[in-house]
Amino acid sequence: MKLLEERLKNIEGGRILDVATAYGDFIRLLTDSFENYVEAIGVDMAEDRLKEAQERPGNEILYNPMNAEKLAFEDNYFDTVAMRHSLHHLTNIDKVLSEMKRVLKQGGLFILGEMFQDPKTEKPNSYRHWHHWRAKVDRLFGEPHNETLTKNEIINRVEKLELEEFEIIEHLDDEPDSDSLKFMLANISDSVVKLKDLGNQNDLISRGEKLQNIFKALGFASESVLYILGRK
Ligand SMILES: C[S@@+](CC[C@H](N)C(=O)[O-])C[C@H]1O[C@@H](n2cnc3c(N)ncnc32)[C@H](O)[C@@H]1O
Repeated sequence: MKLLEERLKNIEGGRILDVATAYGDFIRLLTDSFENYVEAIGVDMAEDRLKEAQERPGNEILYNPMNAEKLAFEDNYFDTVAMRHSLHHLTNIDKVLSEMKRVLKQGGLFILGEMFQDPKTEKPNSYRHWHHWRAKVDRLFGEPHNETLTKNEIINRVEKLELEEFEIIEHLDDEPDSDSLKFMLANISDSVVKLKDLGNQNDLISRGEKLQNIFKALGFASESVLYILGRK
């Protein structure tokens, strides 16, 4: 379902900032979807991810290593400020959201996308089971990564920004294809190797292996995604 792309297609993106951009997948979606844009910048704390992002198509996009709790941009600089699937990775959600609002122009477009825990998508092979397992592994290795939030938790955070023209788009994520299943299985195997090297992680290892068997048997099921749009 391409609801967000449809929604953006007649809008001018202007100067776009994507916060916690990782490999740049969301900023490429934005630059491809807007009617046009002037400048596109993705920021993330993980320099290795940005390096990979820079090597992907869309090389007019600039990637800058930066902590989103202190964005190195002046007030009211961007026409569009966005972040996707990263709220639950942040140590200080309110600080990052307020920085995003600070660098957004008056009347500029704010976009937040986040996968959420929807009772409708609870199945034995739901994507969230891998996600929550992986979040535990990441935390064990020192990377902040929490469980995904509920829809109301996400909306409550963004409501604090007091945006105008608040709009919510909710949909089920695209059905995962065989490549994403392969990626997921390999990703679990890699994490299991790291856990074995670390030692004393039998519970996490056996949960990871169980998940692999479930996903091999059933594939994995999509999660609901929420997009919140608003203007400053
Ligand atoms: C799931 S990934 C982002 C995915 C990406 N936005 C997308 O839609 O494809 C989460 C990212 O948040 C980044 N991150 C977490 N805390 C951050 C912070 N304070 N400042 C900048 N990046 C941060 C991590 O480095 C990681 O790359």
